[in-house]
Amino acid sequence: MSAKTEGDTLCVFINGKKVTENHADPETMLVSFLREKLRLTGTKSSCGGGGCGACTVMVSRYQPATKTIIHYSANSCLLPLCQLHGAAVTTVEGIGSSKTRIHPVQERIAKAHGSQCGFCTPGMVMSVYALLRNKPQLTIEDLTQALAGNLCRCTGYRPIVDGCRTFCQEANCCRSNGGTNCCLNGETNPDQPEDEKPQLFDKEELLPLDPTQELIFPPELILMAQTSKPQTLRFYGERMTWVSPVSLEELVQIRTRYPGAPLVMGNTNIGPDIKFKGVLHPMIISPSRVQELFEVSQTPQGVWVGAGSSLSEVRSLLERLVLQFPEEKTELFRALIQQLGTLGSQQIRNVASLGGNIASASPNSDLNPVLAAGNCRVSIISSGGRREVPLNQDFFVGFGKTALKPEEILISVFIPFSRKGEFVHALRHAPRKEASFATVTTGMRVYFSEGSRVVQDVSLYFGGMGPTTVSADKTCKTIVGRPWDDQTLGRAYDVLLEELVLPPSAPGGKTDFRRSLTLSLFFKFNLGVLQKLREMNVIRDELPETFLPLPSDLQPSLQEFQHVSKDQSNQDAVGRPMMHRSAISHATGEAVYCDDIPKTDGELFLVLVTSSRAHAEITALDVSEALTLPGVVDVITAKDVPGKKARSMFGYEEELLAVKEVSCVGQMVCAVLADTKVHAKRGAAAVKITYKDLPDPVFTIEDAIEKSSYFEPQRRIEKGNVTEAFKSVDQVHEGAIRIGGQEHFYMETQSMLVVPVGEETEFNVYVSTQWPTLIQEAIAETLDIQSSRVTCHVKRLGGAFGGKVIKTSILASITSVAAWKTNRAVRCVLERGEDMLITGGRHPVLGKYKVGFMTDGRIVAADFHYYANAGCFVDESVLISEKILLHLDNAYDIPNLRGFSVACRTNLPSNTAFRGFGVPQGVLVVENMINDVAMALGRPADQIREINMYTGPSVTHYKFEFSPDNLQCCWEECKLKSEYDIRREAVDQFNQQNRWKKRGISIIPIKYGIAFAEGYLNQAAALVHIYKDGSVLVSHGGTEMGQGIHTKMQQVASRELHIPTTKIYISETSTNTVPNTCPSAASFGTDANGMAVKNACEILYQRLEPIRLKNPKGSWESWVKEAFFEKISLSSTGFYRGHDLYMDWDKMKGQPYSYFTFGVCCSEVELDCLTGDYRTVRTDIVVDIGRSLNPSVDIGQIEGAFTQGLGLYTLEELKYSPTGLLYTRGPSQYKIPAVCDMPLQFNVYLLSDSNNPHAIYSSKGIGEPTLFLGSSIFFAIKDAVAAARSDSGLMGPFTFDSPATPERACLACSSPFIQKVIIHSVKMFSFFCTKTAVQDVFRPKISGPEDNDLLG
Ligand SMILES: Cc1cc2nc3c(=O)[nH]c(=O)nc-3n(C[C@H](O)[C@H](O)[C@H](O)COP(=O)(O)OP(=O)(O)OC[C@H]3O[C@@H](n4cnc5c(N)ncnc54)[C@H](O)[C@@H]3O)c2cc1C
Ligand code: FES
Ligand code: FES
Repeated sequence: MSAKTEGDTLCVFINGKKVTENHADPETMLVSFLREKLRLTGTKSSCGGGGCGACTVMVSRYQPATKTIIHYSANSCLLPLCQLHGAAVTTVEGIGSSKTRIHPVQERIAKAHGSQCGFCTPGMVMSVYALLRNKPQLTIEDLTQALAGNLCRCTGYRPIVDGCRTFCQEANCCRSNGGTNCCLNGETNPDQPEDEKPQLFDKEELLPLDPTQELIFPPELILMAQTSKPQTLRFYGERMTWVSPVSLEELVQIRTRYPGAPLVMGNTNIGPDIKFKGVLHPMIISPSRVQELFEVSQTPQGVWVGAGSSLSEVRSLLERLVLQFPEEKTELFRALIQQLGTLGSQQIRNVASLGGNIASASPNSDLNPVLAAGNCRVSIISSGGRREVPLNQDFFVGFGKTALKPEEILISVFIPFSRKGEFVHALRHAPRKEASFATVTTGMRVYFSEGSRVVQDVSLYFGGMGPTTVSADKTCKTIVGRPWDDQTLGRAYDVLLEELVLPPSAPGGKTDFRRSLTLSLFFKFNLGVLQKLREMNVIRDELPETFLPLPSDLQPSLQEFQHVSKDQSNQDAVGRPMMHRSAISHATGEAVYCDDIPKTDGELFLVLVTSSRAHAEITALDVSEALTLPGVVDVITAKDVPGKKARSMFGYEEELLAVKEVSCVGQMVCAVLADTKVHAKRGAAAVKITYKDLPDPVFTIEDAIEKSSYFEPQRRIEKGNVTEAFKSVDQVHEGAIRIGGQEHFYMETQSMLVVPVGEETEFNVYVSTQWPTLIQEAIAETLDIQSSRVTCHVKRLGGAFGGKVIKTSILASITSVAAWKTNRAVRCVLERGEDMLITGGRHPVLGKYKVGFMTDGRIVAADFHYYANAGCFVDESVLISEKILLHLDNAYDIPNLRGFSVACRTNLPSNTAFRGFGVPQGVLVVENMINDVAMALGRPADQIREINMYTGPSVTHYKFEFSPDNLQCCWEECKLKSEYDIRREAVDQFNQQNRWKKRGISIIPIKYGIAFAEGYLNQAAALVHIYKDGSVLVSHGGTEMGQGIHTKMQQVASRELHIPTTKIYISETSTNTVPNTCPSAASFGTDANGMAVKNACEILYQRLEPIRLKNPKGSWESWVKEAFFEKISLSSTGFYRGHDLYMDWDKMKGQPYSYFTFGVCCSEVELDCLTGDYRTVRTDIVVDIGRSLNPSVDIGQIEGAFTQGLGLYTLEELKYSPTGLLYTRGPSQYKIPAVCDMPLQFNVYLLSDSNNPHAIYSSKGIGEPTLFLGSSIFFAIKDAVAAARSDSGLMGPFTFDSPATPERACLACSSPFIQKVIIHSVKMFSFFCTKTAVQDVFRPKISGPEDNDLLG
C-alpha cells in the first residue's frame, strides 16, 4: 500500500479561500500544511500532541442532515489534512489583520495586555473566537473552559481572562459593584470613582463584537454537500494510504480487508502514537463520513449514541436530555456530563469520538469506568453481522485492548436511564484540575430497593489502577444485599484496598497515592449516597460531612499602581500603562518568530541524535543507513567541527558533540541533515550508536554527596559566629527540604537558522536567544573564524526564562557547522520532547538546615547546606550556587548566619539558568526553616517572620548596607490589603468546622538583588538613528522575549526625544548594530539598556538644540530635516557603564547587587485532604518596583513570574527512569499552570511613593523577584496540611518537599485512608530521591517523547 498511486483531490477552504491538494499525504497534519505549504505561520506549533493549544484553529462543517453549520476549535497539530475534505478552516489570519481590521478578540487580548512573548496568543485568540461563533453571549465559565487547553508560560492568564471577559454580559460579573452596574462593561462603582484609580486598559475604547462581520461558510461547500453524491476518497502518501468510505457497508468491507488498520476519527489517540511512538500504519480508514456512526435514537430505556459522535456532541446531547427528563432518570447522564467537563480540553473534546475513547481502552479513560458502572453496552458490526456487548470488565481486556475483534466496528453506545433508587457518581483526580489525564478516575453506581438502604446492585469501576479499566468486583460483592451503613462500608474499604493492588513498580508510579485515592473517592461516593438517601427520607443518620467541590468562581481582580504626575506631558509615555508594542502583531499572528522565516532555496533541516545511555563509552557510530534514506544529505559529527569542539566554563569542558563518552541520556552525539524535517527525523532514527556502559552513574543528590561528585568551587559564607551562638539558644531544630527542578517550557522551542552569505565565510544567524553576542562568539570559535563574520539577528523570542543562553549557543554552534560544511542554510527547531530532553532546566536542590532560636521567636543562629543537582556539565551551576548563598538571609536579620553551597555533578542533562537563578530554591529553604521555628513554638509563622525581619539601616551577611524600609512597607501593606489577620481567623474557624477540607493562608516576603554580581556584565549600548522623515530606529542590546523591553525602550526614547512612541521603531536586536552585548537576564535588561538608549537620545536631542532654538515652534520633522541640511549627524550610540559590582568569596564580602526589589505576597488555599487537590482562593501581592516605567508590563511580569513560581512549588514535576531517562517530555506528562490554576482572586499592588536612585527614572528590575512569591501557595498548602494533621493528632514541624503536588499534600495530611494504605517507601524514582524501581517499560524509545498514558 505504500507505493504511491493517483489519489483523489482534497478540497478544503482556508480563511474563505478554496484550496485543492492533489497529493494530500495522510501523514500531513493541518499545522504543517498551513505553515509550510500555505505560509500561514500565525498558527504556531509548540508541543505537536494536542497538549498546549498553540496550534488552535476553527473548523466549520456543513451538516446536510440538519442543514446546519457547526464551528469548533481544534488542535491543528492532531488534525490530519485528509480528514478536512469539505471543511472550512479559519486561522488567526482569517479573522482579522492589522492591514484591514483586527477582530475584537484580537484587540481585547492585546489591549488587556494578554500577550507577552505572544507565542500562545494566536491559539488563545482562536479558542475564544470559536467560542464566540457558537455563543456570542459568554459566561466566565464558558471562557475558562474554552481556554483550559491553551497554555501560556508568560502571563499568568489573568490579563487574557480580563480581556476576554469583556465579552461576558453577566449582570453579577463584578461582585464589588453590586446592583446592575457592570465593571465588565466599563461601568463604575459609584463608591469608587473611576478617575481616581488608573486602569490598565480602557474598556470604552474596545471595538464592539459584530457577528455579522464574520467570514461566511463557503456556499460552495454547502452546494458540494447537498448536490454531489458522496464518493469514497483515497489519498496516498509516501508511506500511508487513507481511505474514507461513505457507507456503512463499504466501511465494513474495508475493515474486513484491512483488519489491523485503525479507524481514525479524532486522531487524538492514533496521532500521538504515530508522532511520538513512531508507530507506522500503512493504511488508515476514516469513517467520519459514514452517517450511521453519528445517529442518535431514544428508547424508553435510554439513548443510543453514534460511536462517531465527538465528546462535545455527546455532552451537549446529554445536557439536553437532562433538561427533558426527571432527575432520577438522568443520574448516569449527569455523571457523564461531569466527566466530559474536564476530560482533555475543549479542542480535544471537539474532535475525539466516543467510540475512539472506548476502543482506545486507555487505562486512564474517564468515560469507560462510568459507562461500565452505568451498565452501558455497545452495538458492533462486522462482515459477520451485528452484535451487542455490555461494556464491562470482560470488554476491557488489557492495555489499549478491548474484546473487539480486529475487523469489528463500534456503531453506537447505549446509555441507559437510571432508575429510582439508583445513584451514579463520576469522580476523578488529576495532577492538574483541567486538561490533564486522571491519576485515578472512577464510575460508581449503587441501586437500592425501594425505600430501603439495602443495596440491590452496585458497580465500582476504576481507571488508573491497572493496565485498563478495572472493576472492584470483590468489593461490590461485600456490599450487595447489605445495608449501606458504616459496618458494610468499613468492610468494603478493606476489601477495596486488598483488591486494587498496584505493584511498587507499576507504570506511572504514585502507587500509595493511587491506592489511597480509590478509598478517598469511594468515601466521597459514600457521602454523596448518604446525602441522597437522607433527601429521600430513607435514612435519618447524621451525615459525617457534606462534601462540596472546591470553590471555582473567578472573582474580578485588582491592579493598583500610581498615576503619573499631573504635570507630565501627554506624549511622555513613561510611567503609563502601554500595550506591548507587538501585541497586535501577536494577536493577529503577524509577529514573526524564528521558525516563521520563510525557507530559503536549498535549505536543510537539522535533527540531533542523542545518547540513550547515562554514562557510557561510545564504541561505534554507524550512520551508513541514515545516509541512504530519502532526503538525507549529511551527518555532522565532532570530526566536522573546524574550530573548538568544546565550550569551556569554570575550567570544565562541554563537548558540542560527544566523541568517546556520553555523560547523560540526551547528550548530543551527531546531527542529521536532510531536505525536510520529516526526512531528517527518519535519518536520525536510523543512526546506530553502540555503547559500553560505564559503572556507577550518579543521578541523585544523595548519590553525589556519597561519592563527593561536585563541581568546584564550592562556596561558603558566614556572618557572626554560628557555632558559638548555637550554645546560647533556647531551642535547636534541624530540618531539610527538597525542591524539584523545573522545565523552562518556553512556548517557542529552541529555534535557529544559520545562513551562509556565500563569501568570505560570513554567516547570518537568526536565532531565538537571550544573548546574541554569546551565539556570535560561540559560532566564531566553533568555525574558527572572526566574530565579525557572524551576524546574529534576534527579532523576538517566544519565551526564554533563562533557557536560551548557554544551551542555545551549543545548538547554534552545531547548526553552524552544518551550514559551513554544506554551504547551505540550515534550520534547527527542536520538538518539544527533544527540547525537554536535551536542554535541562532549573536545578533541583536539597537544603539542610540547623536553626537556633529563643522562645520569644528570635532566631539567633542558622546554618544552611545547599546541594544543587547540576547534571553532567557545569554550565552556570557554580554561579547559581553563589546566588543561593547571597540570598541566604532573604528578609531576615539573623545575627549568626552560615551557608555552604555546592553544585553536584550527576549523569543527568546539565541544568542551567532559570528565572530567579537559584534564588527560588535557596529562599524556599530559608522560609521553610522559619515555618519550622513557628511550628516548634506553636506560633503563627507570620509572627516569626515579623520578629526576625530587617528593620532600620541594615547590613547583609556579605556586608552590604541597605535600607529595608520598603520591605517593611510592602509587608504592612500586604497584611492590610489582604486583610490577613481577619482571614487568618476565618481560616482557623473553617478548619475547625471541616474535617476533609482545610484552608491554609501564608504571607511571604522576598528581597531580591538586582544586577549581575559579575561587574563587567553591567554595561549596555544602544544605537539610535533618526531618519529624515522624523522616524526613529532604536537598537539596543536587550532581546525581546515577552518582558516588554522594546516597549519600555520606546517609552524611554519618547521621553528623551520628546516625541510620541508612534515615531519610534525597534526592529530587532543584532550584533552588527550593537556589538558586545550582555545577556538579557538578571532582571537587569531595562536598567542597563534603558540607560544606554537614554544616553544616545540625550546626545541626539542635544545635537538638535541649536536648530530647536532657531525655530522653537517648528515640528520634530522640520528640525530633523533642518539638521540634515546643517550636516548634523542624526545617528548616535549610547553607552551605560553600570555599577562595578563584585563579590569576594574569600573575604565573604562584596557589593554584588545595585539594589533590592522587595515584595510580599499573601495567598489562601482550600485543600481537599482526600485527594490533595487545592484551589487558590485569593492572592494579594504588594511589590516595590520604585516608579514603574510601564505598570501594565510590570504587573504582567509580576503575575507571570508568580505563576511560574506557583508551577515550580506546587505542580511541575520532572520524572526520570532508573536509567536516567527523562519521562516527562511534553505537556501530557509535565503540567505547567493552566487557566484553572489562576487564583480565584488575584490582586497586585505596586507600592506607592517608592523611588530608586540606582535605576532609570527611579524604576526597579522586576523580571525575576516575584517568582519566589509563588511559594506563598506552597506555604498555604503546608498550613492547610498542618491543620489536617492536627486532626489526626500530628503536631509540630514535618517534612514537606516541593512541589506540593496533590500526591505530597494528600500523603502528608495522613488521613485515616492514607494510614490504611501500607506506606511503602516512595517508589517513584526522582533525581533527588533514592533510586528505586520504576521500570522503563512504557518508554522504551528515546525518540518517543509524548505519551498519554499513566504518567499524565
Ligand atoms: C491532549 C490529550 C488529552 C486527553 N485527555 C483525556 C482525558 O483527560 N481523559 C480521557 O479519557 N481521555 C483523554 N484523552 C484521550 C482521548 O479522549 C482519546 O484519545 C479519544 O477519545 C479517542 O478518540 P478519537 O476519535 O480521537 O480516536 P482515534 O485516535 O481516531 O482512534 C483511536 C482508536 O480507536 C479506534 N476506533 C475509533 N473509532 C472506532 C469505532 N467506531 N470502532 C472501533 N474502533 C474505533 C481506532 O481504530 C483507534 O485504534 C486525551 C487525548 C489527548 C490527545
Ligand atoms: S502544538 Fe498543537 S496542541 Fe500543542
Ligand atoms: S505570552 Fe503566552 S506564552 Fe508567552
